[in-house]
Amino acid sequence: MAAVLQRPHAAVLCLLLLYLTGGLSIPDPKQREALIKLEASMQTGGQLVLTDTEQRLDARLFKMKQEELEREDFPPAMHFFKARKLIRNSPIFKLLQKMPKGGALHVHDFSMVDVEWLVKNVTYRPHCHICFTNDQSIRFIFSSQQPKPLPHCSLWTLLENLRAKTVNTTDLDNSIMGNLTLFTDQDPEALYPTQALVWKRFEQIFQAVFGLVTYAPVFKDYLYQGLSQFYMDNVMYLELRALLPEIYDLDGHTYGKAWALKTCQDISKQFVANHPDFVGVRIILTVNRWGIDIEKMVQVVEEAMALYRDFPDIMAGFDLVGWEDRGRPLWYFRDALSLPVDRGVSLPFFFHAGETDYQGTEVDQNMLDALLFNTSRIGHGFALSRHPLVKELSRKKGVPVEVCPISNQVLKLVKDLRNHPAAALMSEDHPVVISSDDPALFGASGLSYDFYEAFVGLGGMRSNIASLKQLAINSIRYSSLTPNQQEKALSLWQRRWDKFVSENAFW
Ligand SMILES: *[C@@H]1O[C@H](CO)[C@@H](O)[C@H](O)[C@H]1NC(C)=O
Ligand SMILES: *[C@@H]1O[C@H](CO)[C@@H](O)[C@H](O)[C@H]1NC(C)=O
Ligand SMILES: *[C@@H]1O[C@H](CO)[C@@H](O)[C@H](O)[C@H]1NC(C)=O
Ligand SMILES: *[C@@H]1O[C@H](CO)[C@@H](O)[C@H](O)[C@H]1NC(C)=O
Ligand SMILES: [Zn+2]
Repeated sequence: MAAVLQRPHAAVLCLLLLYLTGGLSIPDPKQREALIKLEASMQTGGQLVLTDTEQRLDARLFKMKQEELEREDFPPAMHFFKARKLIRNSPIFKLLQKMPKGGALHVHDFSMVDVEWLVKNVTYRPHCHICFTNDQSIRFIFSSQQPKPLPHCSLWTLLENLRAKTVNTTDLDNSIMGNLTLFTDQDPEALYPTQALVWKRFEQIFQAVFGLVTYAPVFKDYLYQGLSQFYMDNVMYLELRALLPEIYDLDGHTYGKAWALKTCQDISKQFVANHPDFVGVRIILTVNRWGIDIEKMVQVVEEAMALYRDFPDIMAGFDLVGWEDRGRPLWYFRDALSLPVDRGVSLPFFFHAGETDYQGTEVDQNMLDALLFNTSRIGHGFALSRHPLVKELSRKKGVPVEVCPISNQVLKLVKDLRNHPAAALMSEDHPVVISSDDPALFGASGLSYDFYEAFVGLGGMRSNIASLKQLAINSIRYSSLTPNQQEKALSLWQRRWDKFVSENAFW
């Protein structure tokens, strides 16, 4: 009885509540709008004031993005190997290709040119020998005589002769190409199920490429071709992580790091002479962190200091490369890495750090250690958002993170690029630059694919023309160029940017 009597009472109460929320307790829409604007102003580019033409282009981009986000097969959510074709056809990508992107600050020397050029141009040169290893890979060497056998592959064949005997050379060339890149038409998840496997393949490919690109004439052409490909992608400056390995000639001569650096300098000058709106290339000497002891690291750091002294124009600094999770952490090498400061010699560092999914490991401390060693930038910094203190230090010291989305995905740190941790960094204007790491290995080229993933995947609907503009400016501001060179590069970039904006704002 009581329940029946109470029912109408409860209904009235509900109605009253509904009425109240409908009328009086809705948060103030104006305040809400202001908060949304405030938050948007905190992101990368949020502080930039846009011209009318830039705003027009932004409106156009916004529409394009809406259409892109409505797609069922949203490319940033897919593995890049499957998404590449879709990205190529995306109007946003086509616009990003045309956009002047500034500099590419995190690219490795032997993965900057697409493998098709390596096969169609380099392996067709005379004296190219191939050897099939017993672990399903290949090696190359240029030699005027029969090369000596290697432990894991005994028979060298002159590629010219092999091609002459081959019925279908397209098949042969495709199989060579398949050995020079991770990119595949097969299901990448099935082919590379674990980080260990994809890194193993990565190292194998590196070995296969090595004999081609360390041949002196190819070494030069490769760099020139690499600069051309980045230039074509509207990149105006490059900082290359380079191993500067021993370079060889047909007659058995070999050349050391100084020769290689000098050669890079010559090629850079030659390229700039032919392309006056290109700024050039600078080199960050690298050593593999894997299988190197402290004593050897001391030698390498000493060598780097000497090269930095002797080639101040081209040499930017020093870094450690290779699979971070399996290599020794920076702290292990602390004696070697403090040599420059101990001796009062300058050697800027550009450490790869935080390219890991494993929290709390020794490797996970690399970002802090990189900052303690005064690194100029952090390569990847994938783990940064899990380290509030390190993140704060990086912001305060103005040490940017080099974000390479496709690399992180292919090397299996993150699957869906909407979940890339740098999305959070971009939403709070943490110093970041976008780069492509090893584009040839990933089947990408230049910077545009990574810009696409950063802009559409990491940025979602939020990032806009101002984000893109800021990222391009960052890539010059956080480069190793001197303040004077930066000003020159920036004004060169600005002219190209204005042209790009006015040519694409109206349609
Ligand atoms: C290979 O590249 C070099 C240097 O870029 C160029 O001069 C040459 O013509 C190319 N050769 C072939 C066969 O494409
Ligand atoms: C060679 O193989 C490729 C790829 O398998 C095929 O497309 C092409 O038609 C073949 N060419 C000849 C001459 O058989
Ligand atoms: C690499 O080369 C070997 C030997 O020719 C071949 O069997 C293999 O299929 C190639 N791998 C890829 C991924 O194309
Ligand atoms: C890092 O920079 C600080 C401040 O300039 C300096 O005191 C310190 O010696 C540097 N440390 C290293 C390892 O470079
Ligand atoms: Zn790298």
